[in-house]
Amino acid sequence: MAGKPERTSGKRPERASAGKPEGRRTGGSAAGQPEIRKVRKPAVSPKKPDRVPAKQAAPVPPKTNAAPDADAPARLTWKPGTIEAPLPPVLVTCGTMDAPNALTIAWTGIVNSDPALTYISVRPERYSFEIIRKSGEFVINLPVTSLLSAIDYCGVRSGRDDDKIRRLGLTLLPGETVKAPVVAESPVNLECKVKKELPLGSHHMFLAEITAVRVDPAYIDEKGRLALEKCRLVAFAHGQYFALGKVLGSMGFSLNKKGSSRPPRKKTGR
Ligand SMILES: Cc1cc2nc3c(=O)[nH]c(=O)nc-3n(C[C@H](O)[C@H](O)[C@H](O)COP(=O)(O)O)c2cc1C
Repeated sequence: MAGKPERTSGKRPERASAGKPEGRRTGGSAAGQPEIRKVRKPAVSPKKPDRVPAKQAAPVPPKTNAAPDADAPARLTWKPGTIEAPLPPVLVTCGTMDAPNALTIAWTGIVNSDPALTYISVRPERYSFEIIRKSGEFVINLPVTSLLSAIDYCGVRSGRDDDKIRRLGLTLLPGETVKAPVVAESPVNLECKVKKELPLGSHHMFLAEITAVRVDPAYIDEKGRLALEKCRLVAFAHGQYFALGKVLGSMGFSLNKKGSSRPPRKKTGR
């Protein structure tokens, strides 16, 4: 395992941009958080006058985020940002068994059940970008704590100047439906074929069909169920990694509470 990773071409890894308060930044707090502006009552009453004289425009309510009721809980409005959390910091493999590469992707998710569709959003300057574009294939390897150091490393070093997979000693298995390799250290791998490329701005979104799901049999329980709770999955939130550990309930558990007045719901697909 390599030591502390150097940054790729001095660029920071993808990071959920902490929204900043609207308007000018006036410095930061000790915790590095943007300074919080106090929420004031509007100087001008947003109340409409009883009578509007002819030819006189009605007063426009002031643009303010202040709560109309001074006792209402305060809420800050930040400029648009990518602070949705948690996200999975997946390890994406691309290329071939002979010439593989891996990069970390947090801008990913499921967008359709049938057919099973996912996406990854990749900056065109990434070394993997052209590989994925040309091959039209990639593999999403689910992130687990035992892989976290490799996941972080693959997100801060480029395959342009580093054979990341060999350096990290990752074990590759051939894909069943794609030429891109599967990382054996990850419990679940999604083999994907690109359906569409959408240039969005900073990133291009590769919308892809999941053509096979590869599962480590070690995580299949005696009932044949995939015990993902045993995989020690990792989440990414606001620039930090978190371990998922505690099962809080199963989908639909809220309807099974004692005393619930609602009838049990029919099982539906997602
Ligand atoms: C946690 C994490 C999440 C990342 N998410 C993305 C992402 O969604 N899209 C992207 O283009 N780069 C993302 N990156 C940055 C790339 O993984 C990074 O630039 C990597 O070095 C690219 O490798 P490559 O040049 O070998 O393709 C992320 C990095 C980290 C550490």
